[in-house]
Formats: sequence, C-alpha cells, structure tokens
Amino acid sequence: MEFINNDEKYKYELGNVNMELFLKYEKELKESLIDNERRFWHSISVAITAVTLADIYNVDKDSCLVAGLLHDYSKSLKYDELLKACDEYGVILSEEDKLSDGCIHGFLAAKICKVKYNISDEVYDAIYYHTCGRPNMTALEKIIYMADFIEPLRRFRDNIAEIRRLTYTDIDLAIVKATAMSLEFLKRREKYIHSLTIKTHDYYKNLVDK
Ligand SMILES: [Fe+2]
Ligand SMILES: [Fe+2]
Repeated sequence: MEFINNDEKYKYELGNVNMELFLKYEKELKESLIDNERRFWHSISVAITAVTLADIYNVDKDSCLVAGLLHDYSKSLKYDELLKACDEYGVILSEEDKLSDGCIHGFLAAKICKVKYNISDEVYDAIYYHTCGRPNMTALEKIIYMADFIEPLRRFRDNIAEIRRLTYTDIDLAIVKATAMSLEFLKRREKYIHSLTIKTHDYYKNLVDK
C-alpha cells in the first residue's frame, strides 16, 4: 500500500523529533500496519503529540517518540490472531484480559517490540498499559495514555477540547476525565470493562480529589 504523503502537514512538528529514530520505527510501523493507513497516521500523531508533552512533564523525548510510534503496532490483528500471537510470544493473558479485546493489542505490541527492537522497560510499560492504564503510572505512561486519547486526528471524541487543554496543564485530572469517558463509552456499548480501567479511574479520581 502507498501511504499518502503528509510530509507537508507534519513538517513543523517533525522538526522537533529525533529523525533517525523516527524514520527507523516509521518504516517498521508501515510494515506492521500495512492494511491500516488510518491507524498508521494515528500512531504518527500520537508520537508527535507525546513529544510535545515531553518537556512539560520532564520525560525523555525519544522514549515518547518510540512509545507513541509503536503503541498500536499490533492493532491490525483480529481477535483470534491476537490470541495466537500472544501464545507465540509468551504473553500470558488472564481470563479478564481475554474478555477485554480492546486491551490485548497493547500487551502484545509491548512484547513484540521488546523482542524485535529491544525497547527499554519504560517504553515497554507505556505500550503495555496504553489501553487500560494502571494506578500510579509513570510520567511516560501517562503521556502515551493521554496522547492516544487527544491526538488531533481523533474524530470520535465529544468535548475533547477541555481534556486536550488539561493534558497540557493537569494530566492527572485529564486522566480522570478520559477514563470516565472511556468507562461511559464501554458501558453504552455493553462491552466488558477491564478492572484496570476502573482502578485507573478510581486511583486518579482519589488523587485529584485530595
Ligand atoms: Fe491502542
Ligand atoms: Fe492508539
């Protein structure tokens, strides 16, 4: 598949990233998401958004870039393919994980990227927890969690402006709002809700209420 040329669109933002790293993982991502152009550009957008948050929260820019680019590395796989790949790569899934089909691609992507690219443990965790979050996340994990939520190509979020603003000013409160929105979305669709998503919401709600 030929990807559309968005170079002009991203020219300004790309000036701010480690181009060597960007080009390396952009190439890998294109191969992994070969049938999913929208997801490819979402990943680029998450990476660039994460880099813009790095200085604010004193996090390494390259880690933000790599975790952002690779977080949805396994997103093209269907449910049975995800389970098969988890088996191959030794990703242990609980019964609850298996019910939360939206979370598995993060667990798998972290493991595959560790094996293939030897990503750092910090980047591994940021990719692993990008779907469900977890209590007491590192700053990098919070950045990837929120960049995934607010990146500018996201089309389906209502009232995103406030959450986007909060992500740059009070990321813990942004997580409370984002997880509340995710919980509501899952309930409305009658989807299984992973306990980590609930724990993440409760943890950050308690933290900001203090
Ligand atoms: Fe994802
Ligand atoms: Fe994503």
